[in-house]
Amino acid sequence: MRILGIETSCDETAVCLIDAEGAIPDAMHFRILGNSLHSQATTHSLYGGVFPNLAKREHARNLTLLLTNTLEQAGMSRPRLDIARHSSKAASEKIECILEREPGLFEQLSELLERTAVPDIDAIAVTVGPGLEPALWVGINFARALSAAWNIPVVGVNHMEGHFLISLLRSERDEEFSICNVKFPILGLLISGGHTELILSRELRKYERLGETRDDAAGEAFDKVARLLGLSYPGGPEISRLAEAARAGDEATPHHMQLPRPMISDASYDFSFSGLKTAVRRFVNGRVLNEYEKSAIALEFETAVADVLVEKTRRAADEYGAKTLVVGGGVSANVHIRRRLTETFSEMDCPVFFPAPEYATDNALMIAIAGYFQAKKMDFVNPDMLKASGNLRLG
Ligand code: KG4
Ligand code: ZN
Repeated sequence: MRILGIETSCDETAVCLIDAEGAIPDAMHFRILGNSLHSQATTHSLYGGVFPNLAKREHARNLTLLLTNTLEQAGMSRPRLDIARHSSKAASEKIECILEREPGLFEQLSELLERTAVPDIDAIAVTVGPGLEPALWVGINFARALSAAWNIPVVGVNHMEGHFLISLLRSERDEEFSICNVKFPILGLLISGGHTELILSRELRKYERLGETRDDAAGEAFDKVARLLGLSYPGGPEISRLAEAARAGDEATPHHMQLPRPMISDASYDFSFSGLKTAVRRFVNGRVLNEYEKSAIALEFETAVADVLVEKTRRAADEYGAKTLVVGGGVSANVHIRRRLTETFSEMDCPVFFPAPEYATDNALMIAIAGYFQAKKMDFVNPDMLKASGNLRLG
C-alpha cells in the first residue's frame, strides 16, 4: 500500500511516500519511495522562536516543490497524456475553492497537476494536530486539494502518534525498514518542542496518558534556556553541544549553579520544566556570560532534565510492566538523554527504541507510517471534514 505523508504542524514542511505492508506486532515492512523536507529553522532563528503565520507562509511556499521532488524520487512524475486541465472541471473548481486563501500555493499546485499524470498512491496521510493551527491548515488543505484532484482517500494523523511509532523502526537496507516482534505494553516517552508526556500503549493504536508537563515542554525549556545563554534557535542541539564539551573537558559545575530536579519525587507522572528556566534566568540576571559559564549552565541544565525524565520513565515502566520503551520527539535526539535511558533500561527487561537521529525531529515519514495503520483499516475521513486541532491529544 502506497501512502503519501504530509507534515506541516510546526516549522518543518515535509512530504514522504512509502510503500508499506504487514502489521504490528509481527512484522511490518516498508520502503521509502520519496522523501523531502524543508526546515524553516533558520528563518525562525532570527526571531528566537516559531511564528505561526510565518510558518504557514513558508509551508505554502514549499509544499508543491517538496511534492514534486518526492514524486520524482519515486519515479512517479510521469507527464500527463491527456490535455484536459485538471481531472475534471468540477475537481478544478473544488481545488480553487479549497486553496482560495493560498493563491500562490494554488498556482504552483495547478501547474504541477496540469503536467503530471495521476500517481499510483493508495492514501494520503496528513497531520491534523497537535501543532500550530495556521500551519496545520495549510497541510490539510493541500491534502484535500490532492485528494480532489487525484481521487485518493485521506486519513488524518495525530503528530504525536507519528513520533511514537517511528521510534520502533529498524533499518534493513537503504531506504528499507521494518517494525518487528513488538512487545506490548509499550511505554512512550514523547519529548518535543511542544510536548512532554508518558504514554502507555497496551495494543496498537490505543493510548493511555500517564502524565504530561504542567507547564513548559522539555524542548521548549531547552530552547528558552538556550536563548538566555545567547545561543541560537533551536536551542536543544546547542545546549547539548556545550554540555557534551563540558563533560569531555571534565569541567566542574560552579558550586553556586545547582538547579532543582522539578517533581522528581512526586508520585504522579507529570513534569514541570518552567522552574528550571526561571532558575537559570535568575542566575544569569542579565549578565554577559563567558564560555565557561555557558557550558557549566548547559551541563547542569541538561543533567537536571535527564535526571527527571529518566527517573519518571523508569518508575512508570516498572509500575505498568512495560515490555518496550519508545522515546520520540525532537529532544530524543539528545545524546545524553539517550545514554542515560539506555544505561538505566539495560538493567530492566525492556528494550529501548530511539528514532534514527534524522527522524527524531519532525518529518513526513512518521506521518505516512501512522497513516498506514489507519488506511489499512479503511479508516478514511471525508477530506472536507478534516480540521486542524492545535491541542489534539494522544490518550
Ligand atoms: O519534535 P520536534 O522536531 O518538533 C515539535 O513537534 O515540537 O522537536 C523540536 C524540539 C526543539 O525544542 C529542539 O530544541 C529540540 O526538539 N531538540 C533537542 C535536540 N535536538 C532537537 N533538544 C535537546 N537535545 C537535542 N539534541
Ligand atoms: Zn514533533
